[in-house]
Amino acid sequence: MLVTKGIWKNFGKLSALKDVNIEFKEKGIIAIIGPNGAGKTTLVNVITGALREDSGKINLDGKEINRLPPHARIRMGISRTFQIPRPFSNLTVLENIRIGSLFSGNSNKREIEEDTERIMKLLGIKSIEGKQAGKLNTEERRLVDLGRALASRPKYIFIDEMGAGLAEGEVISLSKLIKKIQIEEEMSLIYVGHVMKLVKELESPVAVFSEGSPIFQGSFEEVISNDEIIKLYLGDRYAKN
Ligand SMILES: Nc1ncnc2c1ncn2[C@@H]1O[C@H](COP(=O)(O)OP(=O)(O)O)[C@@H](O)[C@H]1O
Ligand SMILES: [Mg+2]
Repeated sequence: MLVTKGIWKNFGKLSALKDVNIEFKEKGIIAIIGPNGAGKTTLVNVITGALREDSGKINLDGKEINRLPPHARIRMGISRTFQIPRPFSNLTVLENIRIGSLFSGNSNKREIEEDTERIMKLLGIKSIEGKQAGKLNTEERRLVDLGRALASRPKYIFIDEMGAGLAEGEVISLSKLIKKIQIEEEMSLIYVGHVMKLVKELESPVAVFSEGSPIFQGSFEEVISNDEIIKLYLGDRYAKN
């Protein structure tokens, strides 16, 4: 179990995270949604160690991990993708994914090759394994970043805003891919975003963030019928009371 207790993160006068208490189970999908600026990416940054919180605790299976640098947290099984992926542009797709394996701390060459192959097949990028990452389109870059994150053998994987800017058909295939990844790789998958259609398709529990805190957790249906959340997304005039 991955747990945050009373996490605060301030940027000057702005509190990007305000007393965040949230639990992530060992298996399954959870979606974190919320308007732009709600603190979703900051939460991912703090949990993965890219940013230090101002106060609060992060526990993984009962161990406090607050002081560990990102690479140590990756070894313990906490991995992430980036909103703007930056693969090593002069390396190939295959080499970029293999790098993720090296971060896992696994030094068994055969297992690393197997992981790399399996992940490229799972993500449908085996056919471009030799392509230089610098020549990839946006969609391919996102998949390679996801592959890199999967290759470190995560127990918890945070996928940040992968659905932004996709057409409806692409949203459905991305949600299918996310479900397949969670089932085949058997980890806890935390999907962070604000594309409601994608969240609906995931059919997972949803946590809604607003102004730095989780304000609601429930099913997608519960979220879209909650008056406070309708106000948050659409403004007061759409709410029933
Ligand atoms: N490195 C930073 N420096 C200053 N302000 C930041 C920084 N990162 C995020 N913020 C601010 O913190 C708030 C939360 O941002 P973010 O976590 O990116 O939100 P979300 O991912 O939900 O859109 C926003 O007001 C944003 O402008
Ligand atoms: Mg964000």
